[in-house]
Amino acid sequence: MRNDVSIVILAGGLGTRMKSRRAKVLHCAGGDTLVGHAVNTALVCAPPERIFVVVGHQAGQVQQAVADRGVEFIQQTEQKGTGHAVLCGRGQLEANGGLLAIINGDCPLVRPATIEGLINRQAASDAGGTLISTRLDDPTGYGRIIRDTDGNVQAVVEHKAATEKQRQVNEINAGFYCFRADLFWKHAGEICPDNPANEYYITDMVEILIRAGHRVQPFFIEDSAELLGINTRVELAAVDRVFRERTARDLMLAGVTIERPETVTIDPCVEIGMDTVIEPFARILGQTRIGENCRIGAHSIVGDSLLEDEVEVAPFSSIASSRLDRGSHVGPFARLRMESHVEPQGSVGNFVELKKTRLGAGSKAQHLAYLGDSTIGEKSNIGAGTITCNYDGIKKSPTRIGDRAFIGSNSTLVAPVEIGTGAYVGAGSVITDAVPEDALALGRERQVVKPGWAKARREKQK
Ligand code: UD1
Ligand code: CA
Repeated sequence: MRNDVSIVILAGGLGTRMKSRRAKVLHCAGGDTLVGHAVNTALVCAPPERIFVVVGHQAGQVQQAVADRGVEFIQQTEQKGTGHAVLCGRGQLEANGGLLAIINGDCPLVRPATIEGLINRQAASDAGGTLISTRLDDPTGYGRIIRDTDGNVQAVVEHKAATEKQRQVNEINAGFYCFRADLFWKHAGEICPDNPANEYYITDMVEILIRAGHRVQPFFIEDSAELLGINTRVELAAVDRVFRERTARDLMLAGVTIERPETVTIDPCVEIGMDTVIEPFARILGQTRIGENCRIGAHSIVGDSLLEDEVEVAPFSSIASSRLDRGSHVGPFARLRMESHVEPQGSVGNFVELKKTRLGAGSKAQHLAYLGDSTIGEKSNIGAGTITCNYDGIKKSPTRIGDRAFIGSNSTLVAPVEIGTGAYVGAGSVITDAVPEDALALGRERQVVKPGWAKARREKQK
């Protein structure tokens, strides 16, 4: 982290090649927006008050996407190119002096250490500027690096403007620059839109500085994978895959078993304890923390949830904003949402939905139930097909079930309602009134049996 550098993040463009109504930098890869990744990377290199995000296209939404990170913004009301984007910040930036780093907002894989390397390389040199270059097998679309005989950068030629011979060059401009700020601002006015696109190119600064007698050096990065820019959704998917691979690899090296890691999606903030097993196609998202010795079943989705140690989530379950205590079991095909909480050794089985519900320690709801706005005590059994009627069309009402209660199969609990500790509800009951402790409640018609009725009917039909 240096405090002599200001970092500008270019994020004002629409990104025509995305074919989207949404600004390119608002698209997500690896669990964050592209602009979010760029800001996070910059935050490793400079304090937030020295980071300036250029916003233009859908400025409000782009600002919103990184509002929590304390950075500054530069308004670019018309998008007239990458050079124009920086020029829009002149009033905010010029007085800072020191170094001016500029990074494309559409290259989210770049490692913070690479940006630090760029800045340090510039700081340690007598050059006017430094830019990151790399070699690509297919450089189509990128600006090409033209070097002079000393190996310095002579020019960056955009793909569109390049001659056939220049297009053969596979060393490209990755979109990361660091300039001496005094020189940059002294010559900034010389950038002009003299190209087929009629845009102000930041890359023109190379030739401008050379003309003024300064040197621009390349900072060559061997690993081109981290410099992949996103212009289309094909590249978006490729970058997402790289992020997912990085996260999965870090977790595996930290002691998490991931089966078929290429199929799982794990967001960067997720924490997972040792010896936990993640089965194929699991998605673990947002602010999720999973303890040790857990198992996340195939095709399950766990988001913004807390799982203690030894929790098992069987396949095809969906768990959102919920909490599973030690030794609890959920699924297969279970759905938990909105602050549901399964206490230690609690068990939720197939086709059971919990919404804002607490299932006490050792309690079970194993089959086909809906439990909404409910509090269930310890060691209770919720029979198959139990439904809490928590909504009367106007408001939601709570259901309370005590410890060691037994709710018979296919019961309908019309909330607000309370079932006492140790009480029984007979199968098929519709319960509208409180059931006291240790009582049995039956809320159904008594069975009528008519001996011989069926046989008599058959005979009548002959
Ligand atoms: C740019 C470089 C190219 C380099 C490539 C690397 C220029 C002229 N070319 O091309 O040499 O190889 O990046 O990925 O810079 N932006 C604004 N305001 C604008 C225009 C763009 O903020 O008016 C932002 C975009 O939101 C984007 C970034 O600048 O995040 C780069 O713009 P983009 O149009 O993708 O540049 P490339 O054509 O890829
Ligand atoms: Ca680009």
